Parts: sequence; structure tokens; C-alpha cells
Amino acid sequence: MTNTPSLGRIVVIGFGNMGRALVKGLLASRNCEVIVCDRYKTPEAEEFLASCAHRVQFLQLNEVQRDSIEIPLTSSDTLILCTKPQNLQDAVQFWKPVFCSAGGTPLVISILAGTPIDQIQRLFSGCVIARAMPNIAATVDCAATALCVSMNANEAEIQRAKSIFEAVGKAWVVPEELMNAVTGLSGSGPAYIYMVIEALSDGGVKMGMPRQLALDLASQTVLGAAKLVQETGLHPAVLRDQVTTPGGTTISAIHELERHGLRPMLISAVVTATKKSRLLARAAEKKINKQ
Ligand SMILES: NC(=O)c1ccc[n+]([C@@H]2O[C@H](COP(=O)([O-])OP(=O)(O)OC[C@H]3O[C@@H](n4cnc5c(N)ncnc54)[C@H](OP(=O)(O)O)[C@@H]3O)[C@@H](O)[C@H]2O)c1
Repeated sequence: MTNTPSLGRIVVIGFGNMGRALVKGLLASRNCEVIVCDRYKTPEAEEFLASCAHRVQFLQLNEVQRDSIEIPLTSSDTLILCTKPQNLQDAVQFWKPVFCSAGGTPLVISILAGTPIDQIQRLFSGCVIARAMPNIAATVDCAATALCVSMNANEAEIQRAKSIFEAVGKAWVVPEELMNAVTGLSGSGPAYIYMVIEALSDGGVKMGMPRQLALDLASQTVLGAAKLVQETGLHPAVLRDQVTTPGGTTISAIHELERHGLRPMLISAVVTATKKSRLLARAAEKKINKQ
């Protein structure tokens, strides 16, 4: 992608599921140089790197330790933290001297669940921080990502952070206080929809359909309904009315869904997951403050 504006150097620390998904999207659609860092080269990482070897530099922790490499980043470069939250401190302690030894202040993006901007800012003082919550659909370039930024971010840095996540789906900039609700809706949301797809296909099987056909019909129905919401911009209730014939089959089914509380159930799911995310974030913060 040589005719898109360059995103500079992008360093990804933690080359697991999300790290690989992001790099795959970036290589496919962005003009940038990518360096990835992990403790080990897993078989998944090995396979990924083999498919794009010349475009990604892989740094393995023990090899860097042996050779004491330094790759100074500047403010036009980006460092993306993709480890699990419990590995953050160790990862920063090890990799920060490799990339920030010369006093450089790259844009630092964290995708760590429940980890507030000020915690990352304490680890990377002077840097602009973006905190993002993508979801697992990043692995198929269809992520819903919400991100928030530190007070010192300028418009170009916000756009750079957004552009990185738009390489794997759609992205929105939100105030940080909404991040727990984002976790409860789009972060955990794929799991709710898997349950919906499973249940719809069970309905099909109960009515005599082969399992695979039922799954194919259910998943394509969810995909198509979501696409109609996005492409028409119409409220879901309007779209629902458009397919509800008076006295027909759909209104009979809708009555059942209302009787069993589908909508309050989903609203409660988002509320409960949001509260849980808030609790987990507070517990993690307390633990860090004690260290
Ligand atoms: N998966 C999701 O749907 C999702 C959605 C939104 C946000 N997130 C966030 O994304 C982050 C990553 O999730 P994931 O599913 O990609 O996890 P993952 O597959 O476990 O990947 C994390 C990677 O970081 C590596 N790592 C650990 N310590 C390191 C160090 N010191 N230096 C370099 N690499 C190190 C891990 O290696 P080891 O295996 O050897 O520890 C692993 O390869 C998490 O913080 C999560 O909260 C995930």
C-alpha cells in the first residue's frame, strides 16, 4: 500500500491473537514499517511471519537481551501494547529501553482491557496515549473498536490511532468514561451474538433442518440484518416493522421474544458486563497502587 500516507514505524508488543490480527490488517491496507515483539516465536507467529517475512521484523525477548538492541522511536512512530494486563509491567520494563532509550516519545496505544490511560501514562511519561477496545472480529477485519486519547493528543495523533484500528474494521473515538460500557457492549458482544446464532440454529434443527444448514442460515441472517442496519442507517425497529406482516409469522415470533424478555435480557447483559468491567478495573488499579 504505497500510495496511502505513511504511518511510520509501528511496534507491536505482544504478538498473540490481537497483535497478529492488527498486524495482518496493517500490512494489507497501510503504508508502514512493522516490528513485532514477543517472548517466544509460537507456531502461530512462525506461520504468520513466513507468509510476510520480508515485511515484518520479529524481536524475541531472549535474543534482544543477548544482543542489547536499541531501536529509537520518534513521535511519528507508534508503540502498540498487546500483552495481557498481568504482563504489562514486565513487558514495559523490558521493551521500553529498547524503543525509548533516546528519549523518543512515540504515540503509545494500549488495547489492554480495564487499563486506564493514566496508568499507561505513568509508564510512558511525555507520550501521547490512546486506549482502545477492539473486539475479536479484528481477526476477520470486522472489529468494532472504541478508543479514547490522553489530553495531550493532537488531531493528527487521534487520526493515526483511529486509522490503525480502521485497518481491522470500524473505529470510533469516545470519552474514556465510556470504556467500561464499550467492554460490556462490543468487547463482550460477540459472545452474546454467538449464543443468538446457536439458539436460532437449534430452532432450525428442532424443526428438522440439518445442523450445518441451520448454522449457515442463522449466521448469514445475523450478518445480513447487521449490514442492513449499517447500510440503510434506519432504526432497527423500523427495519423490523418492514418485515412484519400483519397477522403473519414474524409478529407471532416477535410476541414470543417479547414474552420471554429478549430485549430486557440483552440490556441487562450489557449493564452487568459494564459493571463487572468497572469492578475488575478498580481491583487491578488497587493492585498496581500497592506495588
Ligand atoms: N482477545 C480479545 O477479544 C480482546 C479484545 C479486546 C482487547 N483485548 C486485549 O488484548 C490483549 C491481548 O489479548 P490476546 O487475546 O491477543 O492475548 P494473547 O493471545 O495471550 O497475546 C498476548 C501475547 O503477549 C505476549 N507477552 C507476554 N509477556 C510479554 C513480554 N514481556 N514481551 C512481549 N510479549 C509478551 C504473550 O506471550 P506468552 O503467551 O508467552 O505470555 C502473548 O503472545 C489483552 O490485554 C486483552 O485484554 C483482547
